[in-house]
Amino acid sequence: MHALFLQLLCLSILLLLLLLLPFSTPSQTLNIINLGSTLSTIDDNPYWTSPSGEFSFGFYPLSEGDHYLLALWFTNIPIKTIAWTANGDHPVHKGSRVELTTIGSVSLFNSTGEEIWKAEPLDGTRAASAAMLDNGNFVLLSTDSTIKWGTFDQPTDTILPTQIVNRGGKLFSRFNQVDYSSGRFELALQIDRNLVLNTIARPTKGTYSTYWESDTINNGYQLVFDQSGDLYLTLLNGSPFNFTEQQNTASTREFYQRATIDFDGVFRKYAYPKNPDKITQKWPQNWVVSWSVPSDICTSMPVQVGSGVCGFNSYCVVDDEEQRPNCECPPGYDYLYPNDRFRGCKAAFEPQRCEANDANSTMGFEMRAMVNTDWPLCDYEHFELVKEEWCSDTCLKDCFCAVSIFREGNCWLKKFPLSNGRMDTSVGGKAFVKVSNSSPS
Ligand SMILES: *[C@@H]1O[C@H](CO)[C@@H](O)[C@H](O)[C@H]1NC(C)=O
Ligand SMILES: *[C@@H]1O[C@H](CO)[C@@H](O)[C@H](O)[C@H]1NC(C)=O
Ligand SMILES: *[C@@H]1O[C@H](CO)[C@@H](O)[C@H](O)[C@H]1NC(C)=O
Repeated sequence: MHALFLQLLCLSILLLLLLLLPFSTPSQTLNIINLGSTLSTIDDNPYWTSPSGEFSFGFYPLSEGDHYLLALWFTNIPIKTIAWTANGDHPVHKGSRVELTTIGSVSLFNSTGEEIWKAEPLDGTRAASAAMLDNGNFVLLSTDSTIKWGTFDQPTDTILPTQIVNRGGKLFSRFNQVDYSSGRFELALQIDRNLVLNTIARPTKGTYSTYWESDTINNGYQLVFDQSGDLYLTLLNGSPFNFTEQQNTASTREFYQRATIDFDGVFRKYAYPKNPDKITQKWPQNWVVSWSVPSDICTSMPVQVGSGVCGFNSYCVVDDEEQRPNCECPPGYDYLYPNDRFRGCKAAFEPQRCEANDANSTMGFEMRAMVNTDWPLCDYEHFELVKEEWCSDTCLKDCFCAVSIFREGNCWLKKFPLSNGRMDTSVGGKAFVKVSNSSPS
C-alpha cells in the first residue's frame, strides 16, 4: 500500500514537471534560424537540428538515385525514421535548396530554382525566425517567439508526443516502405467529429470507405498525443476515447514515440528505447508496436471499390509472428512487382479462350482449392443450394470466371480483377482458383 502510494506520488510529481516543461517558452533552449538562412542538398550537413540533437529538419537523401525529400526525422537512432515530409509526392534533385525567406516563409526551391512548396504563418503575419524544437516540431516564430506555424500543423503520416490533430485534420499513409508519396489510406478527424480510417483513391485522394471508426459522431474533439506519451481522442462530453484498454507502458523519458498510419492501412503507436543499454533485453533496438488499430486489417477492409490492403489478384493474410499483413499470390499467379508485394499479382499463364460452343475450352485448365479464402468483391453470378464440386466445375467451364467461392451451399463466380482478398479462419468456405494445369502447385 505504502509503496503504491509513493509510486503514485512520484508519478504525479513527474506529470507535474512534464506539464511545466517549457516547450511553449522556447527562448531557453533554441537554435534560432534567422531569416535568409538556407540549406542546399550540396551542403555537407543540409539540415537544422534540435538542441537535444534528437530531430533534424532538412534534406533527406532517398536511397534511389539523386532524389531528396524536405523532411523531418529522428536523428539519434540507427533506423532512419522520417516523421514529416513536405514533398513526398515530388522528391527534388541535387541542387535544390530550402530557404527561410526574408519575407518570413520557409520555401523549397527545386534544382531549377522554382518554389515548389512553402509554409507561412497561419494568421497572415510575418515570421521573424524559425527553430527545430526538441519535441519534433519545426516552427516559424514571431519576434516574441510565439509559434506561428509548425510541421505539427501539417502532419503527413506521423504524429509525435505533444502533437494534436484538430477537427478536419488528416494523416495520409505513404505509398510503401520507400515511396513517401501519399498512399491508399487516411486517418481523419472528420467535421462530424468521428475519427476514422478510410481507404482513398490514389492519386485524387477521394474517400472510398471507412474501415475503422471511433464512433464519436458529434462528440470527438481532438486527437491528443500528450507529453507523457498517451494517445487518445478527447471527447466533448469529458471522458477520453482510448484506442485500447492497454495502459501506456513506455514513457517519453525513456522512449522515442510516434504514431503512424502505415502504408498497410494500420494506425500504429510505436516506441523505441532512447538508451537501449539501460533498458532490459526485452526491448529490442527497434520500433516496437505499443498498440494498433484495426486489430485485424485483412478482414476489416470494406467491400467496395479499391483493391483492399493488398493489390488486385492477391490476398491478405496476417503474419502470426509480426502481426502484420502479408500479401500472397494465389497458385499460378506471380507478383506484379517482385519487390513490392502490396501491388498485386498477375496470372502466370495464358487466359482461357472465350469461344462460342467450344467444348475444348477447359482443356489445359484446372481448379485449385484454397480453404478459408475469399475475394468478397467482384461477384458476377450467385447460385444457391448447390454442391461444392458443381461450383468448382461451373467456374472451370465459364471462360469469364477467375475464381469461384463455395460456402454453405452458396456459390459465387468472380471476375477480374480480384480485390479485397483475404485468408483467415473467420472467412470459412473454399475458394477455387482457375489455373493452367501446368502451373506449379
Ligand atoms: C521545378 O519545378 C517546376 C515547376 O513545378 C517544374 O516545371 C520543373 O520541371 C522542376 N525542375 C526539376 C529539375 O524538377
Ligand atoms: C481511458 O484511459 C484513461 C487513463 O488511463 C482512464 O482514466 C479512462 O477511464 C479510460 N476511458 C475509457 C472510456 O475507458
Ligand atoms: C478439341 O480438341 C481436339 C484435340 O485437340 C481437336 O481435335 C478438336 O478439333 C477440338 N475441337 C474444337 C471444337 O476445337
